[in-house]
Amino acid sequence: MTMAEMLALGMSKNEQPIETSWDVERVRADFPVLRQTVNGKPLVYLDNAASSQVPQVVIDRGSRYLQEEHSNIHRGVHYLSQRATSAYDGAREKVRRFINARESKECIFVRGCTEGINLVMHGYGRKFVGEGDEIIISEMEHHSNIVPWQMLCEEKGARLRVIPMDDAGELLLDEYDALLNERTKLVAVMHISNSLGTINPLKEIISRAHKMGVPVLIDGAQGAPHLKVDVQDLDCDFYIMSGHKMFAPTGSGVVYGKAEWLERMNPFMGGGDMIRTVTFEKTTYAGLPNKFEAGTPAIAAQIGLGAAIDYLEGLDREEAHRYEQELLRYATEKLSAIESVRLIGTAREKASVLAFVIEGVHPHDVGTILDYEGVAIRAGHHCAQPVMQHFKVPATSRASFAFYNTKEEVDIFVRAVEQVVEVLG
Ligand code: ALA
Repeated sequence: MTMAEMLALGMSKNEQPIETSWDVERVRADFPVLRQTVNGKPLVYLDNAASSQVPQVVIDRGSRYLQEEHSNIHRGVHYLSQRATSAYDGAREKVRRFINARESKECIFVRGCTEGINLVMHGYGRKFVGEGDEIIISEMEHHSNIVPWQMLCEEKGARLRVIPMDDAGELLLDEYDALLNERTKLVAVMHISNSLGTINPLKEIISRAHKMGVPVLIDGAQGAPHLKVDVQDLDCDFYIMSGHKMFAPTGSGVVYGKAEWLERMNPFMGGGDMIRTVTFEKTTYAGLPNKFEAGTPAIAAQIGLGAAIDYLEGLDREEAHRYEQELLRYATEKLSAIESVRLIGTAREKASVLAFVIEGVHPHDVGTILDYEGVAIRAGHHCAQPVMQHFKVPATSRASFAFYNTKEEVDIFVRAVEQVVEVLG
């Protein structure tokens, strides 16, 4: 059916299939973990918002490091250390290119978004936020972008302000305008909501803050895997990523920060590699990025992140996004046709996250029954208890799709939900 025919039939934009040329079977072949059965059924992995899977090239790169290069970085003149250092610093340059940062020293390696946000809280917050100052977050934030700021506010006597959202899961930007004032010291919001799927209007959020001279931190945990990120174009001050959600190993991640902020900030942790000189009287710190990377880092994981970036750059990412949007449209249509299913998160701009509740059935029971069918979803509060409070539910079930999922898998998932409704609903 053509677009014109659909519009003639009165189908809305969200109901129209999106045409894609994505070769999902070719991409699936890159992910060995998907070739297994669970409880005698083919694995249907729909928990990508928690952790995405790792392609063979990333696994191979990690094992090559362990087999041939394993050594400490920035500390040895010997051959192996040189190789490890060059692979690790090479991964940083890949990150720079991937997000279009000006310089690779603006990309600090961390274990993931939680550590990254805590780095900014300690480095920026404890230095620049004082009594009576304010920090703005949003109602849909993950706990990792709430709790560090609460800890800071408690320590400093500062105040946490919250941009509310509507019942579709969209931020109320007029309310945001009303919160911004001369006491605001930081705006910290997520790119894509892990619990609702909402894609937030970052450029709008960032430019409004900048008009007031306020820096903006973006929690990019769900953004970087699904959307092309250009930090210069966004003009964000910080953009934080978790490798394990972008097809890389756990323990990898990045804080992008504008050099002018990172240079003025305090180090996060003290220790080896982050110093220039140490005496018992005084320590001076290394330049960027080392100032923020105390101790031996997760070398294999970060090299793996570099390989994952190479892999992503080898794909047509726009086509991947279109394909994920089509999976989301298809799954939304099928799931919402089931009576007693209520979708949680119906924003106009969404990534491939589909959260729902079934009347009278606890989400954990949904997750357990789906697991019998080989279908992996997440059930719980998704580290976003204020979102659950907004929608007055204790928890939700959540399917989150990646570009290696298929429509057949959506069918299996929906059939399993129908069984849950039949048995328990
Ligand atoms: N934050 C991750 C999720 O949403 C773990 O599942």
